[in-house]
Amino acid sequence: MNIMVVGGGGREHAIIKKLKENQTIEKIYALPGNGGIAADAECVAIGATDIDGIVKFADDNAIDYAVVAPDDPLVLGCVDALEEKGIPCFGPRKNAAIIEGSKVFSKNLMKKYGIPTAAYEVFDDADKALAYLETAPIPTVIKADGLALGKGVIIADTREKAKAAVISIMQDKQFGKSGDQIVIEEFLEGPEVSVLSFTDGETVVPMISSMDHKRAGDNDTGLNTGGMGTVAPNPYYTPAVADECMNNIFLPTIRAMKAEGRPFKGCLYFGLMITKNGVKVIEYNCRFGDPETQVVLPLLKSDLFTVMQAVTEGRLADTPVEFYDKHAACVIMASEGYPVKYAKGFEITIPAEISDKVYVAGAALKDGKLLTSGGRVLGVTAISDTLGDAIKDSYAMVEKIHFDNAFYRRDIGKRAMEAEV
Ligand code: AMP
Ligand code: GLY
Repeated sequence: MNIMVVGGGGREHAIIKKLKENQTIEKIYALPGNGGIAADAECVAIGATDIDGIVKFADDNAIDYAVVAPDDPLVLGCVDALEEKGIPCFGPRKNAAIIEGSKVFSKNLMKKYGIPTAAYEVFDDADKALAYLETAPIPTVIKADGLALGKGVIIADTREKAKAAVISIMQDKQFGKSGDQIVIEEFLEGPEVSVLSFTDGETVVPMISSMDHKRAGDNDTGLNTGGMGTVAPNPYYTPAVADECMNNIFLPTIRAMKAEGRPFKGCLYFGLMITKNGVKVIEYNCRFGDPETQVVLPLLKSDLFTVMQAVTEGRLADTPVEFYDKHAACVIMASEGYPVKYAKGFEITIPAEISDKVYVAGAALKDGKLLTSGGRVLGVTAISDTLGDAIKDSYAMVEKIHFDNAFYRRDIGKRAMEAEV
């Protein structure tokens, strides 16, 4: 079996390491991969949004199965294009990836099918949005409709900031066409939970829950980032919450997508908030989360490739998906200055005995050396019987990894520990 994984971050590294546990896989290509992934797969310099290039590569290299991991190629229709060539894929088609690609679509879907989410209004006209904000409850949340590199959500705690966000998204086109429409929604409060799920369009199997840490600084201060660390399972996701989610959110969403003629196959990510009025959907992602994947997949006991093939072939109901009864913690080591401006090109040293626990995100190989090349450089995941030990072990490994300009949060898992007791 020749497998191709589209993408080149820590999430893709975690997917590739897990796929390698399957003995039927002979070769894994990563498009484009990165300097760290190169230790586990053959990296090919084709960008994740170069759909024509990806399809041609798959066709030329006898690819038997493709995993399309990032949001952009999925929203662009990479799976549709590969399927046209007869290549089976893990990931939703374009008409289902819209659940992440358009916030207006996902909000309207939830409203139509009674799936709990924040109250909202949609605007395609800046003046009308600004007029609405004169009386809207504050704080309020402004969301660009389309993909915006994870920066399209602005939480405004004053009317002035809300208006400034509307002007920058709709008039100054900060995110280009992604800001042609916006959603203005109710500000919700409560602990957040990420639940990734496998679904073949009929059956939905939630994976172990997780908790992201989005802000750059300790105690949730500083700017929003792509994620500075994760733990799994998430202690707020109790069996009662899980039942509520399955009945009110997961199954209704899968059925709604099917009813709309947009069956979702792949990994559907539910970003949830546990409010005092019940669990509500904050966002859907049409893919594995990053860095949630770096704690969720190491805890997967079942064979990942077997589960992925069952998703593709619509056999998920008959396929066991099991997780270890353990805890995982992942600490992200980033470049000082991330998510704004940072220097790169520093050599990374990772002791060989821990390299299987390291998921590389932003690093390039040059003359045999691994050099930093991105904001988030790598993630280190430890698995243990308790959350406390997983956190301790992850930080102990972080101490053994070196590159100049490294920074990381010191409090990954702290809130989860407090919630546990
Ligand atoms: P992302 O969509 O990943 O860029 O980040 C969105 C983040 O903004 C979520 O993880 C929440 O922390 C926050 N957020 C989004 N929508 C709301 C809302 N309606 N109320 C409160 N916080 C929100
Ligand atoms: N960690 C959040 C995301 O992948 O969007």
